[in-house]
Amino acid sequence: MTPKNIKIYEVGPRDGLQNEKINISLENKIKFINLLSLCNYSDIEVGSFVSPRWVPQMQNSDLIYKNITKSKKINYPLLVPNMEGLNNAVKNKVKNICVFTTASETFSKKNTNCGVKETKKNIKEIIKIAIKHNIKIRAYISCVLGCPYEGKISYKKTSDLANFLIEEGCYEVSLGDTVGYGTPNETKKLISAVAKKIKVSKIAMHLHDTYGQALANIYASLQMGVSTYDTSVGGLGGCPYAKGATGNVATEDVLYMLKGMGVYCEVDLKKVLKASRFIYKILKRNISSKVALALTAN
Ligand code: HMG
Ligand code: MG
Repeated sequence: MTPKNIKIYEVGPRDGLQNEKINISLENKIKFINLLSLCNYSDIEVGSFVSPRWVPQMQNSDLIYKNITKSKKINYPLLVPNMEGLNNAVKNKVKNICVFTTASETFSKKNTNCGVKETKKNIKEIIKIAIKHNIKIRAYISCVLGCPYEGKISYKKTSDLANFLIEEGCYEVSLGDTVGYGTPNETKKLISAVAKKIKVSKIAMHLHDTYGQALANIYASLQMGVSTYDTSVGGLGGCPYAKGATGNVATEDVLYMLKGMGVYCEVDLKKVLKASRFIYKILKRNISSKVALALTAN
């Protein structure tokens, strides 16, 4: 059941940096993404067209998208929460966007100032117009393995939401364990519920490592046949509207595990390490990835 080929969707420049309080220059963000573009990813999420008052670090996303050196083999998606975000995407000739929602009413309001029902309505409209512009749409569902405000979120509600997003025209749904509460058996139960509504090939896993469970949850997800994983170089990341959430699972740690399991992934670990060292030097912090630390020490 474990897939033979794994796709890694890099979220470092977006999820990884969105919560950083220090000013990271446009030039350094571009250099960072250009280093990532050398690593053989299929997708690098480079920013968000969200309100700069809500997420200040993402406010130069248009300039980033415009000035990075794009590889024809890589998609460079950005997050879009509303029509204003979509208009920015269209204006900047963006080819891939991500919409985001959740089955948690409270998280939805905290993250986008909008309840679940209204968000679904907005997303429907965003998708309709994005498709007219030949923009491909990915979707995120947050808090799938628990919400910092509401606790356990029904897998049925998450599955229904995933079904809605695929039916409306998203090509993939990424299931976000936003605060990293999940454990392997729960991860399996969640995937099993969602796979009753959409194909497993359309599920991606987006696992934050707050409780140190992300690699174990990826192992469980692999056993369920999931072949796409969102990871963040060096383990950067967090969500500004999910108190306590730390970084996504580190790209380096996932690549190391996959190699050890004999599962193919074309992303180049050595080149990822270069990008990781570059960005952590700017952040003036030690890399969170255990594999990166071990390889740096040796
Ligand atoms: P709002 O305050 O209700 O927006 O925020 P509004 O429509 O009332 O507009 C207020 C102001 O924001 C106006 O400006 C708008 O122009 C501006 P003013 O006239 O006052 O100067 N505005 C915008 N500016 C730029 N781009 C836009 C935009 N929209 C309005 N798109 C809004 C509503 C959705 C905008 C806000 O709540 C928001 O930006 N939220 C985004 C929050 C966010 O980015 N969260 C992190 C990403 S999700 C995540 O990390 C989870 C994930 O990783 C998966 C997981 O881990 O679970 C994906
Ligand atoms: Mg996230």
